[in-house]
Amino acid sequence: MKFENTLRFARLQDKKDPLRKYRDQFLFPKHNRREAVYFTGNSLGLQPSTVSKYIQQELDDWAKFGVEGHFYARKPWMPYHEQFAKPVAKIVGAKPSEVVVMNHLTVNLHLLMVSFYRPTKKRFKIICEAKAFPSDQYALQSQVKFHGLNPKDAIVEVAQRKGEYAIREEDIISAIEKNKNELALVLFGGVNYYSGQVFDMKMIAAAGHKAGAIVGFDLAHAAGNIKINLHDWNVDFACWCSYKYLNSGPGNVAGLFVHEKHHKEKNIPRFAGWWGHDKASRFKMEKNFVPLQTAEAWQISNAPVISMAAHKASVDIFDEVGMNALVTKSKQLTSYLEFIIEDINAQVNNKKFYLEIITPKERGCQLSIVAHGQGKGLFNKLMSKGVIPDWREPNVIRCAPVPLYNSFEDIFRFGQILEAAL
Ligand SMILES: Cc1ncc(COP(=O)(O)O)c(C=O)c1O
Repeated sequence: MKFENTLRFARLQDKKDPLRKYRDQFLFPKHNRREAVYFTGNSLGLQPSTVSKYIQQELDDWAKFGVEGHFYARKPWMPYHEQFAKPVAKIVGAKPSEVVVMNHLTVNLHLLMVSFYRPTKKRFKIICEAKAFPSDQYALQSQVKFHGLNPKDAIVEVAQRKGEYAIREEDIISAIEKNKNELALVLFGGVNYYSGQVFDMKMIAAAGHKAGAIVGFDLAHAAGNIKINLHDWNVDFACWCSYKYLNSGPGNVAGLFVHEKHHKEKNIPRFAGWWGHDKASRFKMEKNFVPLQTAEAWQISNAPVISMAAHKASVDIFDEVGMNALVTKSKQLTSYLEFIIEDINAQVNNKKFYLEIITPKERGCQLSIVAHGQGKGLFNKLMSKGVIPDWREPNVIRCAPVPLYNSFEDIFRFGQILEAAL
């Protein structure tokens, strides 16, 4: 598509956009009584306008039925989490039996590592990306220490080469091959939170398996953003949060994937709770844990229904739209943002003050931008003019035009404000 930096062009694209009606299903923060240019769906997605109705329904059923709501609520609470299996499986490319919605992201990562990081004297290393999200780094370090090992010996980070922002695939492969005799686990993000780089999960899974390791992914920045096929890629496990692209509200419930090949493993270590126990005998309240033969076996507690109602409101929208349509629009929007930024660079034409997009072509909707010669002042100016991107130390502005609710006009407006700010 040939882009133009004009309001007319942007509005024309919005008119042609088959997903344009979804914008009206989200609540935008306002700036001077106008909708802000919200580019932070990679951090906290906007609220679907149906959320309050979904939550109110559970509050009403709680008032009406009390404890009996577990059976008689319109969406009975006892199997409440089960309604997520199909739509969430579609988002991450899994079988419904391979996913479960529970807890929070880092909690789930820990629970999965209990099962899938089982270091031996010989195989004890974890390969991960350098500059992984800090919570993931802390999780890895503490798991390694929990097994009596030293993170310095056990954690191998694959870093960007000097002067580069993306991690090269060949460097990931060569790190795996180099450490293959000692490798227990490969744990990568699906999309790096800082640079927006999408990792080739299929390739990493194949390389990790070839080396005899387990392979898992943190999909915080991938779920609802890019096409994922966890089952077909033979990924062992994955986890994600629901508050970014999945628009389910601050700190809301997270998700977890365990490939079906692990469901029947008898001696897999696992921290257990009653919601992972066989459903037929759960309420016999007997002594011994009998795990379900699905990802639900990793579930520990009963579902937090009221907050999960917000997740349901959002997942219903994803189910209606589908990832294919979202990704198609996402590519157009992000390419338009890239075009606008390059157009501004050309107009400003200053070697000291320019915007460098550090996100590689392997990307979802996020572009990470280094504003050379500008610093945080530029970010503050954008915020004061009604643009909401986010700032990551030491010098990156992240912008994520989200296909469910952002428009071409948002991007055009962003360009105008950015150019004026420069
Ligand atoms: C990649 C990644 N991992 C982990 C986390 C931490 O998530 P939580 O606080 O939900 O455990 C985040 C949060 O933004 C993240 O982006």
